[in-house]
Amino acid sequence: MLRISADPAELEVGLIHGFLSRSSYWAADIPLPTLERALANSVCYGGYVDGAQVAFARAVTDQATFAYLADVFVVPDHRGKGYGRDIVRALMQDSRLQGLRRWHLVTRDMQGLYGRLGFTALDQPELHMQKHDPDVYRRAASKPA
Ligand SMILES: CC(C)(COP(=O)(O)OP(=O)(O)OC[C@H]1O[C@@H](n2cnc3c(N)ncnc32)[C@H](O)[C@@H]1OP(=O)(O)O)[C@@H](O)C(=O)NCCC(=O)NCCS
Repeated sequence: MLRISADPAELEVGLIHGFLSRSSYWAADIPLPTLERALANSVCYGGYVDGAQVAFARAVTDQATFAYLADVFVVPDHRGKGYGRDIVRALMQDSRLQGLRRWHLVTRDMQGLYGRLGFTALDQPELHMQKHDPDVYRRAASKPA
């Protein structure tokens, strides 16, 4: 049974960093201090089974108009049980994240999961722009201390 919590003190930062830096395609090599800063400035949700963290999701947000859904994962042994959907749904129902004009996310292959939570593909992608630096974490990690 998954217990979902929004208490930042419960987050297992080592587990989150281990997954994102070694197993994610979007945050490979993220330095621990960078992640810690990101967690401190996001609305974070953890999912726990028998006291151990197995799921994570966060929203980067002004808590008034906009939220970016990021870093959603479930550890491999607990996938396929609805935990991914449950933690994203719980995060989206957080009282700090109501009345937003837009939620945004980027996914390589989970359009089905997010589609069932109300997300759609961009209807006018040409209106959206980005400034992307995909190697920034690797450069930080290889810099001499
Ligand atoms: C994506 C992820 C969080 C899904 O978590 P999960 O707990 O296994 O997913 P759920 O059991 O809640 O499934 C939710 C829905 O997604 C679908 N789904 C789950 N894994 C899927 C996959 N690999 N491919 C396609 N659909 C998938 C399920 O069929 C389910 O559909 P339903 O709503 O019709 O029942 C998990 O697979 C994961 O951590 N993957 C690696 C990290 C990742 O890719 N994160 C997403 C970045 S955008």
